[in-house]
Amino acid sequence: MEVLHVSAECYPVAKVGGLGDVVGALPKYQQRQGWIAKVVMPCYRTRFLIEHEFELVHQGGLWLGPTWYHFNVIREKHNLLGFDLYLLEIPGLIEGDQVYGCFNDLERFTAFQIGVMEWLNSWRHHPDVVHCHDHHTGLIPFMMNYCYKYDYLRQIPTVFTIHNAQYQGQFGWDKAYYLPAYDPWKAGMLDWNHLINPMAAAVKCSWRVTTVSPHYLDELCTSAAGLEALFRQERHKASGILNGIDTETWNPATDPRIMHHYDVQTVREGKAANKTDICRRFQLDETKPLFVFIGRLVYEKGADLLPDAVARSLYESQYALNFIFLGSGDPHMEWLLRQSEYHHHTNCKSYIGYDENLSHQLYAAADFLLMPSRIEPCGLNQMYAMRYGTIPIVRAVGGLYDTVIDIGDPGGYGLRFLQPSVWDITHAISRAMELYQHPQQMLELQQHIMQLDFSWDKSAQEYLHLYAQLKP
Ligand code: ADP
Ligand code: GLC
Repeated sequence: MEVLHVSAECYPVAKVGGLGDVVGALPKYQQRQGWIAKVVMPCYRTRFLIEHEFELVHQGGLWLGPTWYHFNVIREKHNLLGFDLYLLEIPGLIEGDQVYGCFNDLERFTAFQIGVMEWLNSWRHHPDVVHCHDHHTGLIPFMMNYCYKYDYLRQIPTVFTIHNAQYQGQFGWDKAYYLPAYDPWKAGMLDWNHLINPMAAAVKCSWRVTTVSPHYLDELCTSAAGLEALFRQERHKASGILNGIDTETWNPATDPRIMHHYDVQTVREGKAANKTDICRRFQLDETKPLFVFIGRLVYEKGADLLPDAVARSLYESQYALNFIFLGSGDPHMEWLLRQSEYHHHTNCKSYIGYDENLSHQLYAAADFLLMPSRIEPCGLNQMYAMRYGTIPIVRAVGGLYDTVIDIGDPGGYGLRFLQPSVWDITHAISRAMELYQHPQQMLELQQHIMQLDFSWDKSAQEYLHLYAQLKP
């Protein structure tokens, strides 16, 4: 049996956030469980492309409205990722290494999806399932069902996974001519609030819909950036499957990106050595507890609340703790974090930018990871942190609710708070400070969270069960 994943990101080829991590790991685990899993994504000119060998497997052409584009499909030659990776090249349209944020994203991703359809249409055999991820691939289930040209693909089951429903990719009906000719009676399947909405179209047209955690699916039925009614209506075909993490890439005993390796037995010394290195690099006092934040600087992540929470916590604790922020995104939030560093430079540091190495080093060095998210469909950071023995402090929302149990509750191992507010974050930090005063309890918690199983094994299997239920 064979599944084709269609995605805008896939680690290590191109990653902006967790979507890349998921699409880089899930297929590998599905392969191990006996399925053939393949990934197709746009061909950005990233380092991975330049440094690895590819072979041409298909050449074709596509119409984006009245404009003709030639496209190539190339495949990574040595199966380095543990599954077949295909890149769809569209010269003149998808150029450079940028994933999102180009002025012509609509044209780039629409053409990518049409290219995937053309490629599928030309195959002699077909995958048993087409699995699309997020709105950049959301028009595919519609095209498979209602574009005359692709009639032949209609019987292939489609699964659509929602990693983030805040981004829906809406555009005006004036651009409807970008799509290949479709049954006009089905135009409503594309529409939400008088716009073409790829996220809504995918929810309507896919055979099955999944969200990246069970709790997030419940939340979407009441709050989904305007799509709540749709989620309530389509709830019967939706399920929440919690993301896993790639425990091979994220393993403190072997991770080549960290300086001092450690495991459950050596976590105390291992983390201390990594913390010393990081504190020297950032000129922080290593005897104080270290809190870190890693993530995209957007409203959803609640990073804008951190400067005030930091100021308050420092004041209340008489400067007895340290913070490091790693992130990039909204310029205003970047400025806020820089200001925080400026005002509290002995205790608070920031690295504004994207740095994969530093993220691993921070997971290994920190005592606590802060995630004050307003919205968090799943969240991988808290699972990486736990794998590295770092105690998560999270707002109980979405996947954070599903993966972190508060130490005050039976079987608990992390810290949870309810509101995305400065007050709640400060209170949670003070609870962490209290915990830090008890080294033996800290150690037991660290050892416990390192042994929790967040690997992909279980979730990859859940996806395979779901595919198996879909009979053409
Ligand atoms: P999201 O996908 O919403 O950004 P996730 O928690 O699912 O959130 O995944 C975030 C991923 O991106 C993690 O692998 C995290 O380590 C990584 N990440 C986020 N920001 C940065 C950054 N500035 N530098 C390095 N890695 C980052
Ligand atoms: C999205 C979500 C994040 C999730 C990731 C991977 O980017 O914001 O919570 O972990 O996708 O599914």
